Amino acid sequence: MTELVVRRLLIDLEQPVQRHWCAGDAFLTAWFNALSMSFPIGEQFFIDSVREGFKALPAGQQAELKTEVQGFVGQEATHRRIHALFNAQIEKHGLVNEWEPRARERMQLLAGTDLRHSLAVTAANEHFTALFAEWLLARPQLFDGSEPRLKTLWLWHSAEEAEHKCTAFDLYHALGGSHAWRKTWMRRITLIFLSDTLRQTVSNLRRDGTLWRWSTWRSGARHMLGRDGLLRQSFRPWRAYFRPDFHPSQQTSELSADWLRDNTSSYSRVGQPEAA
Ligand SMILES: [Fe+2]
Ligand SMILES: [Fe+2]
Repeated sequence: MTELVVRRLLIDLEQPVQRHWCAGDAFLTAWFNALSMSFPIGEQFFIDSVREGFKALPAGQQAELKTEVQGFVGQEATHRRIHALFNAQIEKHGLVNEWEPRARERMQLLAGTDLRHSLAVTAANEHFTALFAEWLLARPQLFDGSEPRLKTLWLWHSAEEAEHKCTAFDLYHALGGSHAWRKTWMRRITLIFLSDTLRQTVSNLRRDGTLWRWSTWRSGARHMLGRDGLLRQSFRPWRAYFRPDFHPSQQTSELSADWLRDNTSSYSRVGQPEAA
């Protein structure tokens, strides 16, 4: 079982956010903004899936996982609240969240199906966020020149994603979820997640008027496709998910523990909500 602490981030998101808040880089800003737009709806779905999965466990297993599930719910609830504040700021730049209504429609397709499907979707998304988190925690210099509060926001979220990456996966398997369905959902989520991220990033850039700038494409190529880019760096850990003996804990998250230890002045600990 993982000990998950719920933290309140001590940053002020009532203050406006600069248009190109991520180190003056239009591509990185649009891309982070796109991801942030998916969090309030996506993380609510993860919370609901994990809560429902927890309720379906036999009593003995509930006792074992209760604290971890409470921690997961508390962390994700905090993320979605903070990102909603951040999203309210970036929407003042004329950006429109097109991802959320698409995601809502898709989620309705899962309503009434075996809850293990929702958990497999959650586990696949959590694997993606954990890969992204590791990549980002290893490259805090991406935020050089950004406001400290925004750097803190993204690295805190990354640290907690790495911390709770096992919860949905463990629940899925505790409820008898199969390896075959886990793989199927990872394939589907990979397509959906990449295409949604791309579409929202392009939309943000278009509305920002920076889509056709050479510097935008150069930054995109470097940070996504380059040797040190997210896609190339994350391909192997992404593929590991398809192994029958895969478990999220096999992939390191020391950077998460390091960040949380070194940044205690950025957050306070809070009580945890009920798991169910
Ligand atoms: Fe999160
Ligand atoms: Fe998460």
